[in-house]
Amino acid sequence: MELPFAESYKIKMVESIRKSTREERLKWMSDAKYNLFNLKSDFVFIDLLTDSGTGAMSDKQWAAMMEGDESYAGARSYYKLKEAIFDVTGFPYFLPTHQGRAAENVLFSSLVKADDVLPGNSHFDTTKGHIEFRKAHAIDCTIEAAADTTLELPFKGNMDLNKLENVLKKYPAERIPCIVLTITNNTAGGQPVSMENIKGVSALAKKYGVKLLIDSARFAENAYFIKTREKGYENKSIREITREIFSHADFMTMSSKKDAIVNMGGFIGFRNEQDWQKCQMYNIMFEGFITYGGMSGRDMNALAVGLFEGTEFDYLETRISQVAYLGKKLDEYGIPYQRPSGGHAIFLDAKKILTHVPKEQLIAQTLGIELYLEAGIRGVEIGTLLADRDPETRENRYPELELLRLAIPRRVYTNNHMDYIAAAVRNVYERREKITKGYAITKELPIMRHFTIELEPVK
Ligand code: F0G
Repeated sequence: MELPFAESYKIKMVESIRKSTREERLKWMSDAKYNLFNLKSDFVFIDLLTDSGTGAMSDKQWAAMMEGDESYAGARSYYKLKEAIFDVTGFPYFLPTHQGRAAENVLFSSLVKADDVLPGNSHFDTTKGHIEFRKAHAIDCTIEAAADTTLELPFKGNMDLNKLENVLKKYPAERIPCIVLTITNNTAGGQPVSMENIKGVSALAKKYGVKLLIDSARFAENAYFIKTREKGYENKSIREITREIFSHADFMTMSSKKDAIVNMGGFIGFRNEQDWQKCQMYNIMFEGFITYGGMSGRDMNALAVGLFEGTEFDYLETRISQVAYLGKKLDEYGIPYQRPSGGHAIFLDAKKILTHVPKEQLIAQTLGIELYLEAGIRGVEIGTLLADRDPETRENRYPELELLRLAIPRRVYTNNHMDYIAAAVRNVYERREKITKGYAITKELPIMRHFTIELEPVK
């Protein structure tokens, strides 16, 4: 008999989680003003809010932490991390930062000015926030097919090269500090970008004299999809693929909390020395000295090990197979989600599930609340709340897709948890016709409102 698939690790340490009653959850949700971010984690049974910083570090990462060098300048840990970054990405220069958005803050402080234009494929919310905070504009050039959740495409996170070229033609190069290519494309469903597309974007960048930034939070998962789906890459190692990806870019920003499997950390990679030098001042102002930038020595050590572990094929196969396993269960129950299943998450198609909730009443958020009340599972809205208001008109921006993201932390839950999640989603799906009312906003911040927003049920 063919041997079944099994995880490429075993478990050495566990953390207890507790189930709650529906009555308890109703009270907690109301106390949290119907914002899942406001819930205490102890009130959550399975936490799929994010795969960011929620992974389980390995014995080797914990061991590396004991050897951290906490020197203020020139720490051994910095050089260990520098070597790992060079090995995995090929970038010769880097600045450590405390997380991904800090990398964006430092890089954009040096690059972006008012009225600039930054085309990209579904900029992540912090990226868009950092652009709009500087009174510049993020222009989305994602392929149209990404908005049709039923289409099975291998590289649904791709940039539309025609849309991109139109932007590059329309604005002078001085107003385009860089193109932002996000791999995998988180907002479109954890969907990968093909090497062919990366090359196409890079060729256009060169043609118009514009730089290319790769937002790399999930670069290793993207490389796994290239290896398993793109012709010509089947026999390349993950690290050969990651180095090829980055060879096309001028910069990378990294949230190490994802594919480098650490709980905190980030960095910026630079191709050329001048760009690196220009950012040093901002790194010192916002993050810390250029050889630690917001990270302790032990954290840089764990990150260096995590970069290698996160780019091992067996680990990536285990990880992405688990997400696919959940997808298959949902298929059995006929539940609509962004197809095919993504690298880090399943994105439920809330518009297709809660067909009776009007968009003004926050469809995906309503689904998120229902799933929590059903089973203590916490997902995150990728819809109207995340899209923020139009910075000029201050009107709500209703995105084409209303998704509830179920992000799977790395090396944390088992497939029994996946079965539990699928059953809970099915229960909500079966009573979907009865869910006709959503939520109204009572309090919000002007930018990145979804983290702290307060809501009330529509009567
Ligand atoms: N870029 C992408 C594509 C991201 O997904 C994130 C974070 C960031 C940048 C910012 O990194 O959190 O370290 O500051 N995404 C998390 C998520 C928060 O849940 O998807 P950060």
